[in-house]
Amino acid sequence: MSEPAPSTEIHSVLSEGRVFPPPESFSRAAHIRSLEEYGRLALEARRDPDAYWGARAREEIFWKEPFRTVLEWKPPDARWFIEGKTNLSYNCLDRHLSTRRAQVAIRFEGEPEDRRNLTYGELHREVCRLAGGLKSLGVGKGDRVGIYLPQVPEAAVAMLACARIGALHSVVFAGFSAEALQERMKDAGAKVLLTADGGWRKGQVVPLRKNALEAARQVSTLERVVVLGRTGAVAPSDPKEVSWASLVSGQPESLEPEWVESEHPLFILYTSGSTGKPKGVLHTTGGYSVNVSLTTRWVFDLKPDDIFWCTADIGWVTGHSYVVYGPLMNGGTTVLYEGAPMTPGPDRFWDIVERHRVNVFYTAPTAIRSFMRLGREWPDRHDLSSLRLLGTVGEPINPEAWIWYREVIGGGRCPVVDTWWQTETGAIMITPLPGATPTKPGSATLPLPGIEAEVLDRHGRPVPRGQGGLLFVARPWPSMLRTVYGDPERYAKAYFGEQPGKYFTGDGARQDEDGYFWLMGRVDDVVNVAGHRLGTAEVESALVADGRVSEAAVVGRPDELKGTALVAFVTLKKGVEPKGELRAELAEHVTKLIGAIARPDEIRFAEALPKTRSGKIMRRLLRDVASGRQTTGDTTTLEDLGVLAALRGEEE
Ligand code: WTA
Repeated sequence: MSEPAPSTEIHSVLSEGRVFPPPESFSRAAHIRSLEEYGRLALEARRDPDAYWGARAREEIFWKEPFRTVLEWKPPDARWFIEGKTNLSYNCLDRHLSTRRAQVAIRFEGEPEDRRNLTYGELHREVCRLAGGLKSLGVGKGDRVGIYLPQVPEAAVAMLACARIGALHSVVFAGFSAEALQERMKDAGAKVLLTADGGWRKGQVVPLRKNALEAARQVSTLERVVVLGRTGAVAPSDPKEVSWASLVSGQPESLEPEWVESEHPLFILYTSGSTGKPKGVLHTTGGYSVNVSLTTRWVFDLKPDDIFWCTADIGWVTGHSYVVYGPLMNGGTTVLYEGAPMTPGPDRFWDIVERHRVNVFYTAPTAIRSFMRLGREWPDRHDLSSLRLLGTVGEPINPEAWIWYREVIGGGRCPVVDTWWQTETGAIMITPLPGATPTKPGSATLPLPGIEAEVLDRHGRPVPRGQGGLLFVARPWPSMLRTVYGDPERYAKAYFGEQPGKYFTGDGARQDEDGYFWLMGRVDDVVNVAGHRLGTAEVESALVADGRVSEAAVVGRPDELKGTALVAFVTLKKGVEPKGELRAELAEHVTKLIGAIARPDEIRFAEALPKTRSGKIMRRLLRDVASGRQTTGDTTTLEDLGVLAALRGEEE
């Protein structure tokens, strides 16, 4: 096991660039107020994890029936808070009704600038009515419900209604294609799909209903498609279709939550792995709720009066945990924005911050880099003085963007929390605590107490400080995924196959001399493009699905704006001409099969892909070629990568 939590020496050490101490105001009032306090808790959690997590679980959420055992750990299977019963929708809503019925829970702003506020009382009522409506369709405990909605209040209502009746939601990002939606609905065996006629994006209507009805035709388990009128009225024309309005009309305004066991599944969220098929990450109720509630309070210092804006889409885990569940469990106000960041102008975000008086703001480094490129005149036009804390997530942030964020958006007064976590971890894992941790631009700093992050080599040996290695988590934590839905073997292999009993993150990292973690990106075939997680194998199968492509290899190359850009190396079938238009057609094909987020930034035709003697594509070589570290003469047309492979030998 590695050393106990770091000491306060960090205060005086300027080991990597600038160190920003926690602001005075946070050291006075935040949940954890000093590095000593953090260190004490981390040590306590290490010495007696069950006592530590048991105390957190009792502190964070309401248990209808208390748990008797904190953890049962039979690697790779964890069960947390056994015999406890709870309900996440109760913890988000009912718990606040006596004190905050009239407080705004959701502040919504649509792209066309329509606005709507929902109080806790109203949100509770909407959730109960939809829960009743779902029940009337025969949805019950353990059933799967797909959610394919724009970023509108009903998306949160849908998630909460599922949680209320013990059904599992599986949210599919509205930017995913009809094919991607079908694949996920099929895998989840969803019974009902909740969607809208459309959603607004860059002034256009995204055709959600069409994609949803197509899925219903292809997926035999899908009995009903519930359609919300977002861009117009809904006139059902398909036998499986029912309008949202008619489903909830006449439903009672109050409905008793289904008290579920702590380990009752809460949701499935599909994410990319290293094979072509997305993984259905399964989270369960008790453990997920505890970590999400705790991190919202500890990391974002969220107080009930705060207005919190996490810009993530609810189709991603960040949207699940920090747009919907975290802020609501803590009785805060969450901002929901439907549209694109630059619509109608490059200052839309800052306009929203100003008008909604946002206090805590959480976004991705790619967004920060694009705002930085546009120049400070856009944020400078707005009064951003309501902001008191800034966060980032999704990809490593370069120190330059970190400092710009802190100075220009945060006016130099707001702490910046660079939070590392994953779909699988459910909640934030490595992060500064705003009242305790001195920050270094570019470092996610330290693991939360109870999170035993370690940097190991391929053989499971700790690497010395300063050197890169693989990031593991040595002990389970409550919001850890429980399985890959329907594929326990893949779960065991992908996450616990590297080192017995230790969770493998798929990320590279190093610790500096202060023990601070610096994330170095994925070490598997997953890439982070503009903060979106993509499996290169998924994009490859989409390319090969085009009849003209013989083989494809997709790799990431560093990109100033997106962090990583996608480069596809493609070989064509005999007789197919590598014409310029073909590039655009193939890119379009990928967009159709997966969604615009997977569209390759560059497609290069090659005569052959470089392979080892055993037939493995030499990806490292391709990455070098893609990033220009290796030139091949005329790289724009045909590349004889085979020659390069021969030069390189068989080292991969
Ligand atoms: C990356 C998003 C560096 C990482 C919550 C991880 C980060 C993947 C950070 C998970 C960060 C996330 N610094 N890299 N602060 N946060 N990542 O599942 O590679 O969409 O494995 O979850 O994003 O992406 P996912």
